[in-house]
Amino acid sequence: MLKTYRTVQFTEYGGPEVLQVVEREVPLPGPGEVLVEVRAAGVNPLDWQLRSGAVAAMMPVAFPAVPGGDVAGVVRGVGEGVSDFVAGDEVFGSIGTGGCAEFVSAPAAQLARKPANVPWEVAAGLPVAVNTAFQALDDLGVKAGQTLVVDGAAGGVGSVAVQIARHLGATVIGTASERNHAYLRSLGAEPVTYGEGLAERVRALAPRGADAAFDTAGKGSLPELVDVTGGPERVVTIADHRAEEHGVRFVFAGAGEIRGRLERAAALVVAGELTLSVARTYTLSEAADAHRESEGGHVRGKLVVVPG
Ligand SMILES: NC(=O)c1ccc[n+]([C@@H]2O[C@H](COP(=O)([O-])OP(=O)(O)OC[C@H]3O[C@@H](n4cnc5c(N)ncnc54)[C@H](OP(=O)(O)O)[C@@H]3O)[C@@H](O)[C@H]2O)c1
Repeated sequence: MLKTYRTVQFTEYGGPEVLQVVEREVPLPGPGEVLVEVRAAGVNPLDWQLRSGAVAAMMPVAFPAVPGGDVAGVVRGVGEGVSDFVAGDEVFGSIGTGGCAEFVSAPAAQLARKPANVPWEVAAGLPVAVNTAFQALDDLGVKAGQTLVVDGAAGGVGSVAVQIARHLGATVIGTASERNHAYLRSLGAEPVTYGEGLAERVRALAPRGADAAFDTAGKGSLPELVDVTGGPERVVTIADHRAEEHGVRFVFAGAGEIRGRLERAAALVVAGELTLSVARTYTLSEAADAHRESEGGHVRGKLVVVPG
């Protein structure tokens, strides 16, 4: 096996230009870890939030830091205490950081088996979106017959939340810019434009209001979402840090239930009930461009880095 591998890393907080590609020695997997040869790494907003230092007060990184919380690849070695994977298994998962590289040593508990017919790019785009969408929909108690509003429905988390809610039997009203309305229809949501007047536009489609609302965008829609659902307990956000002011729950998706959620998502993908739009793929040396695009805030689905 290779002795060295290429990885993206940064040694200080800053703009996308702090990302460099360097060679490192292939690590041995530690206890509870597996060594993964990365086939694709999904890009999440948290990747550039960690790189820029924007969240350093809550989530400081250890330098040199490797971006990439979402990963899909092939197990090449297993550490002490790992009995659920063997070399050659195809896996995907949410590992926090380190995925934007040719190899990563990752916690086995945060990985699941990738079905053979799910493309690497799709598997790599799913983990954070799936974990977060399941967490939010569980917290809201979304069920068949209800109407759910997903604000930011064309993004990574939003597009997955729309499809899981549809699978549960809910009617979904999703917000996006005009250019994404046909895309939202293809996911099974009724599209509306986001921004001021949102409650009115939702009521035009659901005259009695909505049962629940999921804010993925964090762009100030909470008062209108509370209005259209009839109470702050019917709304959750993953991105608006003023949630408390509005009496709304801020949801943080931890790693506790990740494997089960990945397995449920994989089954939905195989059954054709969950799709993921991969907006663009990048090489390792283009990782800075991927961060710039994500930071722009208008990705449809996911961006994915493919080590090549
Ligand atoms: N708390 C947690 O556990 C957790 C977990 C995951 C993510 N997050 C956070 O949740 C947010 C979303 O994550 P993501 O991965 O889904 O991001 P993303 O994929 O980058 O989201 C991009 C989407 O946001 C939409 N958008 C842009 N401006 C909007 C607005 N004003 N109102 C509604 N939608 C708007 C865009 O639609 P158009 O192109 O049509 O404008 C685009 O499709 C990020 O801030 C991320 O850090 C939190």
